[in-house]
Amino acid sequence: MTEQTLVIIKPDGVRHNLIGRILQRFEDRRLVISHMRLDTMTEELARKHYAHLQDRPFFQEILDYMTSGPVVYLVLEGENIIQLVRTMVGVTDGAKAAPGTIRGDFATNKSENIIHASDSPEAARAEIERFFGKVPAIIECVS
Ligand code: PPS
Repeated sequence: MTEQTLVIIKPDGVRHNLIGRILQRFEDRRLVISHMRLDTMTEELARKHYAHLQDRPFFQEILDYMTSGPVVYLVLEGENIIQLVRTMVGVTDGAKAAPGTIRGDFATNKSENIIHASDSPEAARAEIERFFGKVPAIIECVS
């Protein structure tokens, strides 16, 4: 089944000039990038996006980090894309992420880990709506 997922290249990814290299990985894998925007996340949106972490000690740190500079929002679509992109991204902690994954190659810790990707269809739908206003129709793009 064709799915959509929401990816965010976080402020450290943009700051370290990794936009091109990250996009290249998705294109090399022939994934369809259907929507893309460079923007700075507002504190209001960051609070919503990380609301499930509001009781964690690092909540304010995440808000400061995610609003510290521009991010790139992407919608990717394809078969089982949510799990596929999570596999390409690697585990949360860059220090533990496998080499060959985006975090394993570019991130060194858990707090600034370069990239976010939706972890379920429900999260993807909510996150796409949060950052793109509404869930766009799937573009049946053959590559
Ligand atoms: S956790 O700790 O089990 O909630 O980890 P996880 O579900 O994988 O992470 C959720 C998001 O919280 C970020 N995170 C942190 N930020 C700062 N400091 C610490 N210690 C920390 N631990 C986790 C992590 O990068 C996840 O962000 P997203 O954007 O969802 O990937």
